[in-house]
Amino acid sequence: MAINIGLSQEEREQITSGLSRLLADSYTLYLMTHNFHWNVTGPMFNTLHTMFMQQYTEQWTALDLIAERIRALGFPAPGTYKEFAALASVKEVDGVPKAMDMVRHLVNAQEATARTARQLFPTVNAANDQPTADLLTQRLDVHEKTAWMLRSLLEE
Ligand SMILES: [Fe+2]
Repeated sequence: MAINIGLSQEEREQITSGLSRLLADSYTLYLMTHNFHWNVTGPMFNTLHTMFMQQYTEQWTALDLIAERIRALGFPAPGTYKEFAALASVKEVDGVPKAMDMVRHLVNAQEATARTARQLFPTVNAANDQPTADLLTQRLDVHEKTAWMLRSLLEE
């Protein structure tokens, strides 16, 4: 049955394309954060192990909201590592970095995810798509706040 929610096919396509990039960045960020939760070492172990768990748990829930917004707009959500690798702007990290290098990688990944969400805003506003704007606003708030908290760990 055709979708008739007041957004054109072209608008829904453009928004879905941006949301797919956001989903890919969010998934890559999620995996990086969980990886660092598993592998962090050093005097900051307890703080970072716990902090990373709080972050990946929040991110895991957000993946579902982004994917289901894509479905509500009438398109399939990407759901393979192959698609995520092709769509993501977040760069994956090789090996096991030192604890504070993990924090630096996560600041970069949080900021990259925020940029991807922000890039989509003009399209979403022009199309009058409030639910996607609301989702993007929430994701921007989380990524910018988390980037600040991680950045603060790097200060002397
Ligand atoms: Fe754990």
